[in-house]
Amino acid sequence: MIVLGVETSCDETAAAIVEGGRVRSSVVASQVELHGPWGGVVPELASRRHLEAILPVMRAAVERAGLPGFEAIEGVAVTQGPGLVGALLVGLAAAKGFAYARRLPFVGVHHHEAHLHAIYLEEPDLGYPFVGLLVSGGHTSLHLAEGLGRYRLLGRTVDDAAGEAFDKGAKLLGLGYPGGAVIDRLAKGGDPTRVRFPRARLGPPSGPEPLDFSFSGLKTALRQRVERGEVPARDTPAFADFVAGFQEAIVEPLVDKAIRATRATGVRRLVAAGGVAANSRLRARLAEACAREGVALYIPSFHLCTDNAAMVAGLGEAYLAAGRRSGLDADARPDWRL
Ligand code: KG4
Ligand code: ZN
Repeated sequence: MIVLGVETSCDETAAAIVEGGRVRSSVVASQVELHGPWGGVVPELASRRHLEAILPVMRAAVERAGLPGFEAIEGVAVTQGPGLVGALLVGLAAAKGFAYARRLPFVGVHHHEAHLHAIYLEEPDLGYPFVGLLVSGGHTSLHLAEGLGRYRLLGRTVDDAAGEAFDKGAKLLGLGYPGGAVIDRLAKGGDPTRVRFPRARLGPPSGPEPLDFSFSGLKTALRQRVERGEVPARDTPAFADFVAGFQEAIVEPLVDKAIRATRATGVRRLVAAGGVAANSRLRARLAEACAREGVALYIPSFHLCTDNAAMVAGLGEAYLAAGRRSGLDADARPDWRL
């Protein structure tokens, strides 16, 4: 089935064509330079830019897929939530309008399920169950994936998301927005053991949820070091160590709890997904830990980790094939939980 996917939940306007679980095109128009000066995504600006970009991006997806035109499309999928409500509405309206005009089957999907499901575009035979580590700018959670649309929440952040920790850290260090990729790059030459940042200790006796995460203390620790003037000068080896130490304090709990989740569930397959899964240190440490534990690790390629519409089209194709449809009254679900 030739499926058009549309994604506008945050600050990327994206459209893609997937056919038979294979990506035929994936177009992402980033709004990074629009929001950069503000140090974060400005919802109203995001909606307006989505509105300008959505039709050209959809057209580009059709062209790059080598389709003769929009009439070749057989199904439509769109991110219905969670995300910024005004941003979601733009993609939803475009997708629903197109599906209605062409009388095509249409389905709204969950953004996080799309992130986790992206791996099937590269590993079609993976199957279920798997433990999913979802690490993005807005969300950080661990799930037991038992089937399409069947997820059990194992743990989640009680405050900031991992990507948010990267972004806020980069902002405090004056490194620009979004910060994850910048910190990843700057940390590469550094020694992650020289500068120690705090890790939150969750679980007994402080709480019953050992698979939860917390990153707000890390942010506070960094702010205090900035205020005390303890940040080494840029472009020095000491700065690389500093940034590597900060990154390690985010990466280590993610790896630790993902491994614990595989032990707790007895499931020997781990999928990491979302923008932060693009982080090279996280990928390397997960690979090490999984090799040690005998757990099979699956992480999508970089372009399928950060927000994109191929993951939406891929999941949409799976749902449409299973007979699931959404009505044209499907509304944005900004707080939808997986
Ligand atoms: O999944 P995503 O593209 O959007 C959301 O659904 O939130 O994730 C965006 C997040 C941002 O916080 C960004 O800083 C982070 O992913 N990110 C990274 C890297 N690339 C993107 N974080 C760490 N290292 C990276 N290489
Ligand atoms: Zn995302």
